[in-house]
Amino acid sequence: MTNFSIRVSGADEKEFRCEADDTILGGALRNGNGFPYECNSGGCGSCQFELLDGEVEELWPDAPGLSPRARERGRRLACQCVPKTDLTIKASFRDEYVPAVAPKKQSLTFVGAKQLTPDMTEFSFKASEDAEFLPGQFAMLDLPGVEGLRAYSMSNLANADGLWNFVIKRVPDGKGTAYLFDIMKSGDEISLDGPYGNSYLRTDNGREIICVAGGSGLSPVLSILRGAVQAPELEGRGLKLFYGGRGPQDICVHDIVAADPLLSSRVEVHTAISDEEAPGASEWTGARGFVHELVKNTLGDDIKEFDYYFCGPPPMTDALQRMLMLEYKVPAKQMYFDRFY
Ligand code: FES
Repeated sequence: MTNFSIRVSGADEKEFRCEADDTILGGALRNGNGFPYECNSGGCGSCQFELLDGEVEELWPDAPGLSPRARERGRRLACQCVPKTDLTIKASFRDEYVPAVAPKKQSLTFVGAKQLTPDMTEFSFKASEDAEFLPGQFAMLDLPGVEGLRAYSMSNLANADGLWNFVIKRVPDGKGTAYLFDIMKSGDEISLDGPYGNSYLRTDNGREIICVAGGSGLSPVLSILRGAVQAPELEGRGLKLFYGGRGPQDICVHDIVAADPLLSSRVEVHTAISDEEAPGASEWTGARGFVHELVKNTLGDDIKEFDYYFCGPPPMTDALQRMLMLEYKVPAKQMYFDRFY
């Protein structure tokens, strides 16, 4: 396979090789370089660089992570650019983005699925090598017959059986989830590139952990909690899970936690529903409202004392982030989330 030289000019002068079918971000991370990024999907804009010399192919020319103005100024998204020649770029690398586990491409076999709610399922795939990732990370899945890659977070932990599990919610008219829910059958093969993501479990500070999720944001949060209950550094540390859904049918977390002795002995679960019109809502005896309000009402004055890991629909994560930062001045270093939009 042809590969190209990517020369990084500026204070961080360096050079790495990038395969002709890889993105500049993928090439940088695979070579152990700390290229800043979040979504790896063209949405967040955090992987911007300046193209000084050479040619790239853009996988998604209208990706929302880059404004037309930034594009005119020669900026590009490293997660959406594939090199066509040797390149010179300007970008700032940062140590905190040096991958603990370098992403790699591999083939997976579909081995099972467990339905969690009417529209959410945990899918399980098996690789021929160990599954290596940190709790809370995600991978890019290449699904047969589906254009482009889909980012999904793992729900399990790294393991020597090669198992990669993902909690995935069906997207109305979504081609990726149509394949996963309706077409894929046992033994089918897909391709994976990963792991990616920086919102993984940290165990090196004294704070207790709050996980907040909605929808399939449950997947990374489950992985984080599963990692936390097994981390000796977090022994005796409080762990709380807040989960919000539209209606009672969406609230699957009580059963998931109850079925896992390690989780059920450590994790305090809080749930709320937000749609009074959802099926079964009138019989719901738990909390009602948005999940960020549930966090606020439950934690009270202690709200500033925790580490927060959160994932879910953008309105949910935005509301939580705004509340923590603006209302309670929770430092950014206590919040872990990846923006997929
Ligand atoms: Fe490239 Fe988000 S736009 S990492």
